[in-house]
Amino acid sequence: MTDEIRVFIDSESQILIARQQARLLAAELGFWSVEQSFIAMAISEVALNILQYAGKGEILLDKAQKEGAQGIMVVARDEGPGIPDVELAMQEGYSTSGSAGLGLAGAKRLMDEFNVVSEVGKGTTVTMKKWVR
Ligand SMILES: Nc1ncnc2c1ncn2[C@@H]1O[C@H](COP(=O)(O)OP(=O)(O)OP(=O)(O)O)[C@@H](O)[C@H]1O
Ligand SMILES: [Mg+2]
Repeated sequence: MTDEIRVFIDSESQILIARQQARLLAAELGFWSVEQSFIAMAISEVALNILQYAGKGEILLDKAQKEGAQGIMVVARDEGPGIPDVELAMQEGYSTSGSAGLGLAGAKRLMDEFNVVSEVGKGTTVTMKKWVR
């Protein structure tokens, strides 16, 4: 059984819904309030990237498990232009839009596991996990 929640991302109001849903799931899993906020902040960054670079996409939320640890998994995916050099894009300060370029680097810091798979012309999938301590 999966408790997967899907939120279609095509506007800022949908980002708010993804954040709210993530906080609810995180609370249910036992994350304390500040950590719920960290998860919501990480979601804002990857979801804003979806809006900004791909136009639309989706956020998937689910429970995660490893060796007795419980956590949350957040997947942000789109079928946008993709990222030519993921390693470069994840560096703090790297931006193709003249922004601060803290989005991916910041989201990575807020979560425990962070993985980006992207193919130019096909899209981008960011998978993030955080474990309950
Ligand atoms: N979903 C995506 N699709 C295509 N390119 C992306 C996507 N997400 C990030 N990128 C690329 O990676 C770069 C770095 O992303 P990041 O979120 O770290 O910074 P930013 O969006 O440029 O600035 P900030 O998030 O600080 O406003 C972006 O400038 C963009 O080129
Ligand atoms: Mg960004």
